[in-house]
Amino acid sequence: MNKSTNSDSRFVHKESRYERGIMWREVLILSLASGAAHGGFPYITPTQGQVWPIPREVKTTEKYFIMGPENFNFTIKAHTCDVLELALARYSAIIFSYPGGDKQKKADHENWRNNDISADPLTGLDIVLTKECEKYPYLGMNEEYDIRVSSSNNVGTATLNSTSIWGILRGLETFSQILIPDPKPPTYVVNETIIKDGPRFPHRGLLIDTSRHYLPLLQILYTIDILAMNKMNVLHWHIVDSQSFPYVSEAFPELSGKGAYNQERLYAPEEIGQVIDYGRLNGVRVVPEFDTPGHTQSWGPGQPGFLTPCYSGDKPDGTFGPVDPTNEDNYDFLKEFFKEVAERFPDHYVHLGGDEVSFDCWKSNPQITDFMKKENITGDYGKLEEVYITKLLEIVSNLPTKNGYIIWQEVFDNGVKIAPDTVVQVWKGGWQDEMAKVTEGGFKTLLSSCWYLDYISYGADWRNYYSCDPFDFNGTSTQKELIQGGEACIWGEFVDKTNLIPRTWPRASAVAEKLWSPEELSKDANSAAPRIEEFRCKLVYRGYNVESLGPSFCMGDNI
Ligand SMILES: *[C@@H]1O[C@H](CO)[C@@H](O)[C@H](O)[C@H]1NC(C)=O
Ligand SMILES: *[C@@H]1O[C@H](CO)[C@@H](O)[C@H](O)[C@H]1NC(C)=O
Ligand SMILES: *[C@@H]1O[C@H](CO)[C@@H](O)[C@H](O)[C@H]1NC(C)=O
Ligand SMILES: *[C@@H]1O[C@H](CO)[C@@H](O)[C@H](O)[C@H]1NC(C)=O
Ligand SMILES: *[C@@H]1O[C@H](CO)[C@@H](O)[C@H](O)[C@H]1NC(C)=O
Repeated sequence: MNKSTNSDSRFVHKESRYERGIMWREVLILSLASGAAHGGFPYITPTQGQVWPIPREVKTTEKYFIMGPENFNFTIKAHTCDVLELALARYSAIIFSYPGGDKQKKADHENWRNNDISADPLTGLDIVLTKECEKYPYLGMNEEYDIRVSSSNNVGTATLNSTSIWGILRGLETFSQILIPDPKPPTYVVNETIIKDGPRFPHRGLLIDTSRHYLPLLQILYTIDILAMNKMNVLHWHIVDSQSFPYVSEAFPELSGKGAYNQERLYAPEEIGQVIDYGRLNGVRVVPEFDTPGHTQSWGPGQPGFLTPCYSGDKPDGTFGPVDPTNEDNYDFLKEFFKEVAERFPDHYVHLGGDEVSFDCWKSNPQITDFMKKENITGDYGKLEEVYITKLLEIVSNLPTKNGYIIWQEVFDNGVKIAPDTVVQVWKGGWQDEMAKVTEGGFKTLLSSCWYLDYISYGADWRNYYSCDPFDFNGTSTQKELIQGGEACIWGEFVDKTNLIPRTWPRASAVAEKLWSPEELSKDANSAAPRIEEFRCKLVYRGYNVESLGPSFCMGDNI
């Protein structure tokens, strides 16, 4: 039998704007997504107005408000600065240019019955920053904030408050996420809400690699946008490696002059400054990594004597190995080099690498053998590495603006003596034992082992990332306090500007929630699934090509 459009359950009259807001989504779900399962993966219905990563505490009531651009103001009630003003410009654009605002959508909704049950309007968001802005984000900065959406005398108002500009940034992101598109675009409905929020771990990062493939500046800035939307706060910039040296040093221009892929694939000082400033405006620290003594082939052409010549029999064979730790000139060079790095990158931390040092070339070289004899460390290449790292740490510790360094776990594993405030980044398998050892030694640590996003596989692998928790090892609470957080890593061997964003997101969003949200709220991937779908759609609406998590769709844009 034919059914008239009016009796079709998809078009039944809905009493409230709230329900119509929900129904807008439902119409598309019914018309586009028939069939519940496909290829073994269930179709997942996105939530509406939920926050990713999930806040510490969210309380809502059934009361709701409506809001639209013509009658909504952001009002700064206390301190302000460029970070806040630019954030308001950003979030006004994000909030009031969602895809429901387009003409086609308006036409789609013309047939809707327009019987308004009036809800109170939400007239604005008051922003109360109770302390002055800080200039740069840093490890351990305060990111706590509170949001209240409520009403008095039939007028809704919202307040966002924090003692820290970084908390205000996180709160603006949350505010943008609790709004549910209303079918009369461009308006939203939003429930009466109280949110209290703050991070579980202070260091929530993403590693990008600009040596294996050069990443254009814009891709790095997009990445910072999305980090901030995930409430992540560190861009770990693995800027050089064996394959290419795109970092332009003013003191040693030959490094990039001879070590970059070519002279278009460079990061000049102004561009690095732009990345740092963009990070600052988004509450994202930019922590550079200059990995030595391994992973350094690209340093060689521009800095003769830096790398160890490898021998075949009693002659150099023309190839080079790790940094030559026996060449005293190298330490003078490193001192100058890192002095410039420290001036260019304001973050107090620098990553010094130290991973995957191959000892073969050192073993072949007679000068190295002699040196080791003199030092009474014959045969112990871990000790030779220690000689190098000890000097490097001393150089970096004496830089005026740096007071911390991060190293990969091998430095610790090889028994190198490291300063007590070193942060050890754990990346290998068997991380539970490693974290137990590192923290038993009293060192701070970051977890990455379970979050190597460059390893791709079929299926909803975000669930694997989501099932990994940094506390999941045998250790005392004192040991667990040493965990600073972790980093997702998107190594660049098979990643360039064509796939950086879609391959990283929203897979790294799983890591973001593990590191931001309370442990007890971020355990269950099934309950996270509809929320991460909604969040992924929000990133799509905002213009980022973030990949699919499984069968689903986002309204608008044919996605
Ligand atoms: C928001 O309000 C609507 C309408 O009263 C209600 O149906 C819904 O459950 C509320 N949502 C939340 C998350 O409280
Ligand atoms: C927004 O601010 C303008 C300028 O102060 C004011 O005229 C307007 O009434 C405000 N709108 C609302 C909804 O409060
Ligand atoms: C927000 O303001 C309320 C009321 O003054 C206060 O109790 C709360 O601690 C503030 N929250 C933050 C994160 O500063
Ligand atoms: C190496 O050992 C010899 C003999 O025990 C000793 O004289 C020398 O000082 C040692 N050298 C170093 C660098 O420790
Ligand atoms: C913790 O220790 C217990 C008892 O020794 C062991 O059964 C368990 O596998 C360990 N857990 C981890 C994560 O290493």
